[in-house]
Amino acid sequence: MAGYLTAHRDALSPYIIVDAGNFTGDVTPQGRLKAEAMIKALRLIGYDAVAVSGNERQFPGDFLRPLIREHALPVVSDAPGYASSLSFERDGFSMQVSTDPARPEEGRVNVLLTHLSVEAAKDMKGWNVIITSSGEEREEPLTVNGTVIVSGSPKGKKLGLLTLRKDSEGALTFTHAWQLVGNDLQEDGPVRSVLNEYDRSVAALMKETEPLPGTTFTGASACAACHQPFFKQWQHTRHATAFASLQAVGKSEDPECIVCHVVGFNEPGGFYSLDATPDLPDVQCESCHGLNREHLSDFSPMPPVTERTCLTCHTQENSPEFDYPRYLEKVRH
Ligand code: HEC
Ligand code: HEC
Ligand code: HEC
Ligand code: HEC
Repeated sequence: MAGYLTAHRDALSPYIIVDAGNFTGDVTPQGRLKAEAMIKALRLIGYDAVAVSGNERQFPGDFLRPLIREHALPVVSDAPGYASSLSFERDGFSMQVSTDPARPEEGRVNVLLTHLSVEAAKDMKGWNVIITSSGEEREEPLTVNGTVIVSGSPKGKKLGLLTLRKDSEGALTFTHAWQLVGNDLQEDGPVRSVLNEYDRSVAALMKETEPLPGTTFTGASACAACHQPFFKQWQHTRHATAFASLQAVGKSEDPECIVCHVVGFNEPGGFYSLDATPDLPDVQCESCHGLNREHLSDFSPMPPVTERTCLTCHTQENSPEFDYPRYLEKVRH
């Protein structure tokens, strides 16, 4: 997103850029690092107003507020200690951006940022624009009683561009478009530095946790001893190089990624780190066939593999194209 804006700032101007909130994850040690990285990045991108409203409010105020102050992030929020609205003058538009549904102002372009649903936004009267961060994906804006309701793209995968114009009578008209902000864009250097720093902190955090005891999983090479053709076939699937995919994008030490790209992460005797568990990176036999160490000596049945097994990793978010018969065909031994 930063890269896109750096390249298109002039073409887009005059504009304001706002975030409707829900920009943090959960209140975990990694979630705190993520919140801090987001605050730094939003500031570097030059956000004009950022709502602290949904997930953010789960964080204790004494964690978030000093960070926001330190990085001078322009926040709007109904939480104590923040402004509930900010004003902007751009190109003849006098605008108010607020998080308080009860406070549209006469004679201005009123923009409400809310973490509530699109359905709830329909009841909020007197706003020109309402932007939701409820995570609902809507291709087109909705117009209700003269209010344009748009939903932000979950996880910032797309940048919503809402263009407002005044017609000859002074009435507002709008057009809306989505700009994809994928990996093909030139990255912005300073924001990339923030992300690199985040990745390093996450890796350091992971080193502080203890591996779960037990050497339960064995890894594919042990299976290869008796199931050579299966092993050979598996080596030619993308499962066998799943860890390299993380390494290629600098994410091989991020627990939020590792979990689906190795064997048994967060389970006793599962993957911990490349050093501690060198046999357990990648999606291997036991990722699908499950755990049964006795099998190696008594050949007792392995747990069955079903579509459910695949779906633990092939989620809607991480594998939107997943289709069991088609995918099974590609990995079947
Ligand atoms: C432990 C997590 C996990 C499980 C379980 C899993 N997969 Fe995967 N799968 C992945 C990951 C991660 C990738 C991507 C690897 C890469 O390219 O780096 C992948 C990639 C694939 C691909 C390649 C996609 C393509 O377009 O070529 C297929 C096919 C596939 N999986 C099928 C399956 C099937 C069928 C099952 C269940 C029988 C299954 N997977 C179970 C994690 C898993
Ligand atoms: C819930 C499980 C899951 C998590 C968590 C996960 N992945 Fe994956 N990842 C997959 C699956 C499944 C695929 C294969 C998708 C497909 O081809 O259908 C995949 C594919 C990939 C690929 C290969 C994409 C390609 O087309 O070449 C990369 C790179 C990747 N993941 C990186 C990451 C990163 C970085 C993270 C953490 C931010 C992450 N993954 C978290 C399951 C996961
Ligand atoms: C992506 C999931 C997945 C992975 C990874 C995987 N398998 Fe399988 N395996 C299956 C499925 C599904 C079946 C059921 C039979 C079929 O449809 O091919 C199966 C069947 C088998 C069978 C029984 C075949 C039969 O004739 O009954 C053996 C043995 C086997 N796998 C061994 C392995 C070994 C060894 C590895 C690792 C080198 C491995 N598998 C990795 C999914 C997987
Ligand atoms: C010491 C040899 C040996 C090793 C090592 C071994 N297997 Fe097997 N496996 C067998 C034999 C023998 C059978 C056939 C058992 C039967 O038909 O009763 C079998 C059958 C299977 C089957 C199909 C029947 C079933 O029980 O579901 C799967 C799946 C399987 N093995 C997976 C694995 C995996 C995964 C590993 C590694 C974790 C592994 N095996 C390691 C000898 C071995």
